[in-house]
Amino acid sequence: MEEEEEQKRRGVGLVLFPCPLQGHINPMLQLASILHSKGFSIIIVHTRFNSPNSSNYPHFNFIPIPDGISDIQASFSDVLALLSHLNVNCAVPLRDCLVRLLSDHDNSISTSKEKEPISCLISDAIMHFTQGVADGLKLPRLVLRTSSVESFLAFAAFPVLRQKNYLPISDSELETPVTELPPLKVKDLPVIKTHDLKTLYQLVGSMVDQVKASSGLILNTFDHLEQSSLSALTQEFPIPVFTIGPFHKLFPASSSSLLTQDQSCIAWLDTQPPKSVIYVSFGSLASMDEAEFMEMAWGLANSKCPFLWVVRSGLVHDSDRVEPLWPDGFLEMISGKGCIVKWAPQQDVLAHPAVGGFWTHNGWNSTLESICEGVPMLCHPNFGDQMVNARYVSHVWRVGLHLENRLERKEIERNIRRLMVEKEGEDMRERVASLKEKAEASVKKGGSSYESLEELIAQIFSF
Ligand code: UDX
Repeated sequence: MEEEEEQKRRGVGLVLFPCPLQGHINPMLQLASILHSKGFSIIIVHTRFNSPNSSNYPHFNFIPIPDGISDIQASFSDVLALLSHLNVNCAVPLRDCLVRLLSDHDNSISTSKEKEPISCLISDAIMHFTQGVADGLKLPRLVLRTSSVESFLAFAAFPVLRQKNYLPISDSELETPVTELPPLKVKDLPVIKTHDLKTLYQLVGSMVDQVKASSGLILNTFDHLEQSSLSALTQEFPIPVFTIGPFHKLFPASSSSLLTQDQSCIAWLDTQPPKSVIYVSFGSLASMDEAEFMEMAWGLANSKCPFLWVVRSGLVHDSDRVEPLWPDGFLEMISGKGCIVKWAPQQDVLAHPAVGGFWTHNGWNSTLESICEGVPMLCHPNFGDQMVNARYVSHVWRVGLHLENRLERKEIERNIRRLMVEKEGEDMRERVASLKEKAEASVKKGGSSYESLEELIAQIFSF
């Protein structure tokens, strides 16, 4: 029976279109792997900019489309502008590509692997233009939103937040509670620092409107974690919602990392005692100034806790090289105690028995990956949804400490020790271990995410 079902799905093709940023590519390719494991044929249409490594996914078809992004625009210095350009530049190329796929006439892209009828488009919520393209072709569109439910609700509340003068954020109101979105304060609202507020509001507004216009919303989360927000979401969004995460626990995906992961840190972790190491990484986009970077370095060294620190290119504003920044004698001082890499195999690091804490920027993938491995967090959000995630980690799930002020070495040292060696950290470790169990249960047969995935498959067949 199951084989028959799978055979039926083999005849169904899905087109997935990710937003070309690391934190968005990872969950989209994980989703693709999940759906492929359920029998669907997968076509990944992607921009040339930040194109995923197709060799890690020999069973998918990858089709690049032009994106009109210049090297300067691709420098990440202005993510808002980049996303806005992509939403304009990709419309015609995506439509042309889908027309070819749907008509199956163009032999140059129609290989034997992709002859199946295309059932729907699955695209990232940020790529809001895709709804118009799909509508024009009468192709159903499902949306993947890669963030938490809470942060998505906060984005959806932008019109009310503007009306009530929470937005734009005023420096004198940072600590004011947002009574409409407890426990958020004004400083937690998911904004990107920009002088171009109009573009920000347009991007967020279009994202939300086009999710509402879609045939369903897929989320990388699990019901137990975000129950009350999910109830609010389903009331506000009258479309099917599928909470099928944590994706990487449903299907251990091949690496979709854009940067080479330095595996040597795993051998270093092997030499460290259990739960002794604090892993430090701020994801693919977050950055800081040189003074904060110095405070971080000294805070880590002075904590006397072993640490694994990801110092990727671009972590410090306006600097591609970090070597000259190291304070005199710093590298000698941390020898044996600290391991520094440019990019780590993060999921393996978090799963390593030596890791006892994660100092994170609270990107949603990092937050979820930490919860899934039962690792408590030190939260230092940088922009956008990260602030919402950090507030939930520290004040709702109570599995992390929030570094709310500008980084300062004494404060860092004190909080690392609270997390890594004091009773407080131990309590958080217990709470996050319980969330880890709930995450694991959700993807097993009968679990909420497992069931939701079955509903998603049924929805795809209904198209
Ligand atoms: C961005 C946003 O910043 C984030 O808030 C949003 O939720 C998704 O898009 P990013 O900043 O890169 O993502 O953070 P995050 O969501 O945590 O994703 C980073 C991904 O890169 C994770 O899957 C993580 O495992 C991976 N990673 C990170 C590595 O593989 N190696 C590293 O060294 C660091």
